[in-house]
Amino acid sequence: MWGGLQPVSGYRLYHHTDLRLFLGLYPFGVLVLIELMGLVKSFGELQVLGGVDLSISEGKTVAIIGESGCGKSVLLKIIIGLLKPDSGSVLLDGQDITKIKYKELVEIRKRFGMVFQGSALFDSLTVDENVGLGLRRHTRISEEEIRKKIGWCLSHVGLEGVEDKYPAQLSGGMKKRVAFARAIAMDPQFLLYDEPNTGLDPITPPEGYTNLLIT
Ligand SMILES: Nc1ncnc2c1ncn2[C@@H]1O[C@H](COP(=O)(O)OP(=O)(O)OP(=O)(O)O)[C@@H](O)[C@H]1O
Ligand SMILES: [Mg+2]
Repeated sequence: MWGGLQPVSGYRLYHHTDLRLFLGLYPFGVLVLIELMGLVKSFGELQVLGGVDLSISEGKTVAIIGESGCGKSVLLKIIIGLLKPDSGSVLLDGQDITKIKYKELVEIRKRFGMVFQGSALFDSLTVDENVGLGLRRHTRISEEEIRKKIGWCLSHVGLEGVEDKYPAQLSGGMKKRVAFARAIAMDPQFLLYDEPNTGLDPITPPEGYTNLLIT
């Protein structure tokens, strides 16, 4: 469903875990946009990432598959700067984002759309407020345009007329769709999906994005 994914190499993310790396067969784009080099991350005695290298090229769809607890979500959080690695680097356009100031990181995060595992919607906010959060906080777009954009994002994931509902009123799959709509609302360059298929009918990653899927 994710555009003809083909296995290209065996990969180990964690010492006892077989992780298979898949690359989408997108015909365009060879420019490496994100490069992970030697990422190591431990929590206390537990080493979760034992030196991960990965290159993600422009326009590619990369999926990482691994058993529960092997470090997939940790890897995604390091890529968007929510967690710092113990060592190694995350190069974005050649800049190591593990070493930059928080202010610069906030700017860089605007380039990422993230669908978190379990959707991570704000329960006290409506669908409209969840999807429009970034637009209302970080842009000067008019309220009318924001509402149009929210409607477009929701229709893109097959949801209409749910703007005034709260997450608790939605099914698991609908929540995931709203999370997806929120991720694309700011027109990100990269889309990162943690567990894209849980409780969800297939959604095709939109063209023109660089996608990282965790399944
Ligand atoms: N903030 C944290 N503090 C301590 N340990 C953590 C933290 N985040 C993750 N871990 C541990 O790191 C390991 C990897 O966690 P992670 O969430 O990346 O797993 P995962 O591969 O995404 O699993 P799943 O498929 O179940 O989502 C787990 O053993 C987890 O307990
Ligand atoms: Mg996870």
